[in-house]
Amino acid sequence: MLTIAEMNANPHTTLARWRKEAPVVDYEGGGVFVLGHEDVVSLSLDPRVVATGTALPESRGITSGALHDIFKLGMLTANGSEHQGRRSIVSRALASVLIGDVRRNVRSVTENLIDVAYEGGSAEFVSHFANQIPILTLAGVFGVEEPDRQGFVNRVEELGRFFAPSSTDADIAISFAAAEYLRDYFEFRFRKITESKKSDFLSAIRVEAEAERLAPTEIVFQIIQMILGGTESVRASLSAQISLLLQHRNQWHSLYADTSLVPAAVSEALRYEPGIAGLVRATAEPVELHGATLPANSLVILSTLSALRDERVFKRPNVFDIHRDDLPRLHLVFGAGAHRCVADHFARAELEEALSVFVTRLPNLKLEDIPIFNGHVFIRTPSSFCVSWSRN
Ligand code: HEM
Repeated sequence: MLTIAEMNANPHTTLARWRKEAPVVDYEGGGVFVLGHEDVVSLSLDPRVVATGTALPESRGITSGALHDIFKLGMLTANGSEHQGRRSIVSRALASVLIGDVRRNVRSVTENLIDVAYEGGSAEFVSHFANQIPILTLAGVFGVEEPDRQGFVNRVEELGRFFAPSSTDADIAISFAAAEYLRDYFEFRFRKITESKKSDFLSAIRVEAEAERLAPTEIVFQIIQMILGGTESVRASLSAQISLLLQHRNQWHSLYADTSLVPAAVSEALRYEPGIAGLVRATAEPVELHGATLPANSLVILSTLSALRDERVFKRPNVFDIHRDDLPRLHLVFGAGAHRCVADHFARAELEEALSVFVTRLPNLKLEDIPIFNGHVFIRTPSSFCVSWSRN
């Protein structure tokens, strides 16, 4: 049995030990962990292994309201044609977002955050940079204007508490209120679009949704799922890439000397310390895997955290190496199959742009302490850590 305590203490060593023993292991928190890269990919594509609908909020006593509707009406937790309809409007509307604009926006957000902290010579990385960059980037895409910005930033942070590995009942109540606020805010914004007919992401998604006959409330929950998908994961990934590169100073110097290495550095950090630990699924019918049977209706965690260090796929998997040449073309950190991240290009643009701003503006950036990444089922949360720089 894979225990929560050993996973909290040392997830990578624990998973490596289990990978040697078996392809699947029972998990103390419920269900099983699937450990190998090939099995994680093949079960992601298997129609008998399905998204979990409203099971998660209901297991925590939430049976109605906006927090419940995120799961009831959002794409990530839906299956079949319902999932496809919701996803296709988001992916078509995202195609209308110019990635060059996203990059410019991330660059300016990151530059501004550096400017604010610069004279102080140091900052706590997670709260000052990693929290803010993804939320402010999404605020730009969704056209959240200045007077609404701080409220938006606060509510997005509060919403994320429900998904944190150690969330309490008080966190859930705060998340619940934040979900209602965001639903009402975007419903209001949609009503305004009809009046002003602006051309932006929200207008694009509205046009797509009308073509698919999706109700406005349903569109709002796709946007809230984009917010959820696009904040916690990016926050952890920004923290991972900076802290890993600063721990491997020679690789940080290589980046400074040659910024064309930035995309490879981002990919390797996503592999080594992924922002999402796994894909949570349920079996709709019994599934046979290497001679073992996963019974129907059991919880299955397809552990990308384990798969991304699978020694059958990666040479020296426990070595952080931005020069490695064995990353599969489709990076498993973004999942696989029908639910594969709908915004992977967007996420990469964010991570790459932010990293290149740091390495060029603050080449002498120093890591003051090493973060720990908590969470081994779904979202991973970095602990606070400080970075410092000398002013030239
Ligand atoms: C480093 C950053 C990111 C990582 C590691 C990541 C990872 C993932 C993964 C693993 C999935 C599949 C989950 C599953 O199958 O259960 C997923 C889905 C999704 N992601 Fe991302 N993601 C990132 C950034 C983003 C961003 C920036 C957005 C939005 C702007 C986003 C929006 C979504 C949405 C809406 C889904 C659901 C797709 C569906 O169900 O069809 N993600 N992401």
